[in-house]
Amino acid sequence: MDDSKSFELALRKQIDAKYLRPPAAGNPFVRLVAGELPRADCQEVYGGMLGSLLTFNQVLLPRLLRNAPSVSHRVELMSVIAPEWGTTGPKDAHPTFFLEFLRALGVDVSAAMMANALETPEVREEARYLRSLSQLELLARILVGETLGPKVFAVLAEALQKTYGLTPRATLYFTLHAHRDKKDADILFGIVSREARTDAEQRSVQRVIDESYDYGRYAQYGCAISDRIDYDFTRLFDRRRTTRPVARA
Ligand SMILES: [Fe+2]
Repeated sequence: MDDSKSFELALRKQIDAKYLRPPAAGNPFVRLVAGELPRADCQEVYGGMLGSLLTFNQVLLPRLLRNAPSVSHRVELMSVIAPEWGTTGPKDAHPTFFLEFLRALGVDVSAAMMANALETPEVREEARYLRSLSQLELLARILVGETLGPKVFAVLAEALQKTYGLTPRATLYFTLHAHRDKKDADILFGIVSREARTDAEQRSVQRVIDESYDYGRYAQYGCAISDRIDYDFTRLFDRRRTTRPVARA
């Protein structure tokens, strides 16, 4: 296996291992999956995520594109980033789907609430952190963001529908990412492992992945919130590597 492939395998193992961590006491998603999270608590959890999600969209994504070292790198990233901003307009931008979900859950999504969400000390600190990262570290950070959906969003969408009577449309943010981020994560695993060439670069990628999974919503999502998490980035990669057709003699 060449060096970038063995590094990709290490990254996939690193990320899969996060979802085997025991959840912290009172993890809201464990309670949600068990049908034991009161609606008011769910409103607080997801309402409280808005600032971080908007920062992902407004700080992380533009920085990734601005700092892309080549045209081909930027174009490759665009296939992951463009849908976040809506390919046919604001109606299919991912923050729109998240706001639709919040509204259906009964969270206030007024312009004032949105503006406040960006001004909390935690969100300002997150924006500062993102501005401090190199391009490679930003790639590690977006990779973490794109791995949540395939792991936990299908289970959460089902729990949200069952517990609060939300419609499939209201949970589209989750079902869409559960499906589409499988491909996006694959693209990013490829880019990150190709771009991280030196030992120091590879270590900085792994450090940002660890830091991210110990932080905010990534920490809450990135653990064993359900025994039904069955998507496995390592198994997928191993299967692809080992099931190539064998040439006949
Ligand atoms: Fe998204």
